[in-house]
Amino acid sequence: MNAVLLGYGTVGKGVERLCNQVADLNLTNVFVLPQFEDLPYFTNDGERIVTDPDTDIVFECLSGTEPANTLITKALEAGKHVITSNKAVVSPNLERYVELAKRYGGSIQIEASVAGGIPFLDAILKLQRLEEIDGYEGIFNGTSNYILDQMQKEGVALKDALKEAQKRGYAEADPTNDIEGIDVFYKTNITNMLAYQTKNDAILPPLGISKIDQKDIEYAKKHKKVIRHIARSIQKGNAFASVIAPAFLDEENYLANTPSNYNAQLLFANSFDQLGYFGQGAGQLATAQAMLANALDTMEHRERKIVLNNDKKVDNSILQEDWIV
Ligand code: HSE
Repeated sequence: MNAVLLGYGTVGKGVERLCNQVADLNLTNVFVLPQFEDLPYFTNDGERIVTDPDTDIVFECLSGTEPANTLITKALEAGKHVITSNKAVVSPNLERYVELAKRYGGSIQIEASVAGGIPFLDAILKLQRLEEIDGYEGIFNGTSNYILDQMQKEGVALKDALKEAQKRGYAEADPTNDIEGIDVFYKTNITNMLAYQTKNDAILPPLGISKIDQKDIEYAKKHKKVIRHIARSIQKGNAFASVIAPAFLDEENYLANTPSNYNAQLLFANSFDQLGYFGQGAGQLATAQAMLANALDTMEHRERKIVLNNDKKVDNSILQEDWIV
């Protein structure tokens, strides 16, 4: 199959590298923004390559909503298989992408948009064929977790830990979304849609880690707690609620011991009670491998189907009964 790549940042370069390892997957073009030279392989003409009749797969690793949304839309209208890591564009547009894929015979796969290298969405799509997902909680931002770890274990200041997270390729180009909880807002929204098969994306505004300081760290130590940035979501009946905020966890809590740039999640459902995931949620190869795994699914004609046919209500009183801190 022939693939094109949109975006040549940290994740894009990882996708290019891994494509070279997959026989029968030929990366033909990379879309770069017009400030870079237009060469035969690197091109500024994204629209041409995503609609080219020879293109089968479109890897989208741009950041932000434009030109990502326009190019994904054009690709789906041309019946292509779109694989994206871009949560900012997937979160508000998923329902439309699913419909376009259905109408034009392509597909939309989004594994890399949530939890990087952990096949968390894949697990949800697999399990919810039989199970009602009751909810989940977890750490979904590697940058925030790295910063909190460095502040608590090494006494590093927030701004210095953030600089290091940027150097390591965990943080977004503009890290505001990482430290203000917005990145997790997109991921929670996407996870809710898949877990509850719902179109409804109204969740509480997120709280990030940007205001955590030395006093919070000392308070946590004194009370044998660990500060983590958590998303939690619970479904009850025909309603659900989600919250995104820093929390003081008991030292022995599953999520308290999540190291460095890792993500961790617990998924709740009746048959298995709790199911845990733990691994790299950010970083070049962790994220790129999730995109290549989706490409292999396409090549083997076994993409997981995304169904969003409910219209569940948001009822925040659910979390007041059942909140983590
Ligand atoms: N900036 C994100 C994070 C990348 O730190 O988790 C992975 O989505």
